[in-house]
Amino acid sequence: MQAALELIGEDLKQVEEQFKKDLESEVPLIRKVGEYLLSSGGKRIRPAMLLLSARLCNYHGAQAIPLASVVEFIHTATLLHDDVVDNASLRRGLASANTLWGNEASVLIGDFLFSKSFSLMVGVGSLDILGVMSRATTIIAEGEVLQLLYTGEVDLTEEQYIEVVKAKTAVLLSAAAQSGAILGKVSQQQEQAMADFGMDLGIAFQLMDDILDYTASEEEFGKSIGHDLEEGKLTLPLIHTLRACTADEKAAVAAIIGKDELIPEDFRLVCSLVQSYGGIEYTVSKARNFIDSCKKHLSCFPDESCKDALLDMAEYVVTRNR
Ligand code: IPE
Ligand code: IPE
Ligand code: MG
Ligand code: MG
Repeated sequence: MQAALELIGEDLKQVEEQFKKDLESEVPLIRKVGEYLLSSGGKRIRPAMLLLSARLCNYHGAQAIPLASVVEFIHTATLLHDDVVDNASLRRGLASANTLWGNEASVLIGDFLFSKSFSLMVGVGSLDILGVMSRATTIIAEGEVLQLLYTGEVDLTEEQYIEVVKAKTAVLLSAAAQSGAILGKVSQQQEQAMADFGMDLGIAFQLMDDILDYTASEEEFGKSIGHDLEEGKLTLPLIHTLRACTADEKAAVAAIIGKDELIPEDFRLVCSLVQSYGGIEYTVSKARNFIDSCKKHLSCFPDESCKDALLDMAEYVVTRNR
């Protein structure tokens, strides 16, 4: 990621300034919660994606900064809602907003950020980008609901899982990449290539996130480990394991998923099954495939530093530990 960050470091600083302006509200709690989240050290992968895509598509105008800010606003809104839905207490190594201010405030401030995002985009004035982003947020909501419906579903298929991953996570990265391309007024083919790049990278990003929920150090990851299992969320490492294990082992996992609380002993048991059936390796190899595929989408762009930075970002996705 270093190369990417160096290239757009100045722009990202401006994006940080833009957030602060955009958080303006008469209601003090909105600013307080918004600032708490936005200053808590997110990786800014979505604004970075938008900025690099815009540059690769030869856009040098003033709209990339406000749009990069908007895409992080949308992401922040989804996190506020997601942590309520997932009962998450930790976000970016800190107490989550719902832990500090309650579910009600989190939902409402998430709503504020969503609607603010759309009024900011109206200010930017591209109907095409507004279309891409509004489609993306609709699909994210569908993905989150779909995932809710799949809670505790031990027979969840890999296809169903990937459908959720695309919707809840990859679509926003795809929209960020596509928006950069729209700014650059590139050909339809190149715009689609950027959208596909973001989509495949986004799928790999979530796959790796789901691995980290089993393998990361909580301190580095900044989120609770084993939380997907605790919430009855079946992700690819476990889906693969459940396909391969014995009926007795599957029944044991189903019983653990059915419990409200995840005790360390149960988590260890599931981890050892995931380990012995190669669930992590399988998921890493799938994520690698998506990264290989995403890189290919950039072949219709000239080789230059922005392209290297995007390729670098793709590589980062499959090596990150936070
Ligand atoms: C968290 O996204 C939600 C997922 C899609 C896994 P990030 O890992 O990009 O979150 P921050 O912004 O860096 O904290
Ligand atoms: C990521 O959801 C996608 C959204 C927030 C819309 P997850 O629930 O998988 O991500 P984390 O683990 O809370 O970051
Ligand atoms: Mg969550
Ligand atoms: Mg979630």
